[in-house]
Amino acid sequence: MEKIVSLTKRRGYVFQSSEIYGGLNGCWDYGPLGVELLRNLKEEWWRAMTYRNDIEGIDAAILMHPRVWEASGHVENFTDPMVDCKECKARFRADQIEDAMCGNPAYKGKKAHKCASEGKFTEARKFNLMFKTFVGPMEDSTAVVYLRPETAQGIFVNFLNVQAASRQKLPFGIAQIGKAFRNEINTKNFLFRTREFEQMEMQYFVRPGTDMQWFEYWREQRMQWFVELGMRKEKLRWHKHEAHALAHYAKDAYDIEYEFPFDWGEIEGVHNRTDFDLSRHEEFSGKSLKYFDDETKEKYTPFIIETSAGTSRSFMAFLVDAYAEEEAPTADGKMETRVVLKLHPRLAPTKASIFPLVNRDGMPEIAKNIEKELRPHLRVFYDDSGAVGRRYRRQDEAGTPYCITVDSQTLQDQTVTVRDRDTMVQERVAMDKLLEYLRTKLIM
Ligand code: GAP
Repeated sequence: MEKIVSLTKRRGYVFQSSEIYGGLNGCWDYGPLGVELLRNLKEEWWRAMTYRNDIEGIDAAILMHPRVWEASGHVENFTDPMVDCKECKARFRADQIEDAMCGNPAYKGKKAHKCASEGKFTEARKFNLMFKTFVGPMEDSTAVVYLRPETAQGIFVNFLNVQAASRQKLPFGIAQIGKAFRNEINTKNFLFRTREFEQMEMQYFVRPGTDMQWFEYWREQRMQWFVELGMRKEKLRWHKHEAHALAHYAKDAYDIEYEFPFDWGEIEGVHNRTDFDLSRHEEFSGKSLKYFDDETKEKYTPFIIETSAGTSRSFMAFLVDAYAEEEAPTADGKMETRVVLKLHPRLAPTKASIFPLVNRDGMPEIAKNIEKELRPHLRVFYDDSGAVGRRYRRQDEAGTPYCITVDSQTLQDQTVTVRDRDTMVQERVAMDKLLEYLRTKLIM
């Protein structure tokens, strides 16, 4: 993980939030390459979800009526048990003590559960994970609102608005990508558990009785999505929530887990939420959220199958999965270790990099021309600094799938070399066929 965190900073993927002030725990900033990878990831999800005729998109507000969170159960149940160490004052999730380290510098390297066994912890108390703020100038209890801890509720409360506006019939879904906030007691493992993060959630509304069939359908679709974007199958697995561990709203739930360097961890949940959410919002708002089935002339509350992916966690899983260290030959025939990010071409922030082999003989002008022609179609990068071998290595680390080099042969036959990031094999391609060639290779 340390190597990956360091690479993400060096290459401009992820920076610590407010770094010059010492950082803000649980918050991260996405740099120039990171924001591209994040956008590509969201675009892939958005296409997979909303470029079908049974799913509509939505972008709901982060701040919602406070009653939403009473209806959803978050005010009452969205809590973690928290304990304080009486000696060092460090705060822990009571259910995660086993993995936590003691916060007292005098006990550096000591596991926190040792303190627990020595009786140094306070009794566990409930801590609500929602961030509170106020609307308007009065900071009193009547003005309290919450930063949403999940995007799902913005979908539930808009169910009938979307259905009526889009004239969808059941089964159909609503998809949303957006920020969510949780005041996690302990943030950890880079982007894995943060206080501000992004989710990609889709709620699929179905007729009761057909819910398990759709649950299985969405489980298959969602696992396939990660695999199609290049994630190694052996690094993915399902985790079933046993009956005693099911959330209060769920009839069945599975997590897609990825094997991170620190452990297996959930990147997406697929849940059968039954009619819990719509029924609760009906009860708390006093408004009907029932669906009228034109064909059967029945009115009922749909069941919901939810697919809930963490954008930030998936981002990290794709980065970890793409990271490789390999032995590769240098220009003078020696071997060195190259670091390469083998991101799927559709996710890669920069699609191609263009180099003149040397900065003379008209090569930079030709390379600049290629850049100008490709730029309207693909995100490309021009680099003429340093030895070409070094330039390849920089692009390998940045995850750029193709490097185009203008060399002396270009001056004679208008071809360039195109080097494949993963195989390092170079092909000669006619300059006027470059865009077509890249489009095919990049699967765009
Ligand atoms: N609407 C259901 C829901 O929010 P969840 O399992 O609490 O379910 C869904 O969250 C996904 O959101 C998780 O699989 C994870 O990828 C992501 N996620 C949750 N908490 C997170 C955190 N503190 N930091 C980063 N990602 C988080």
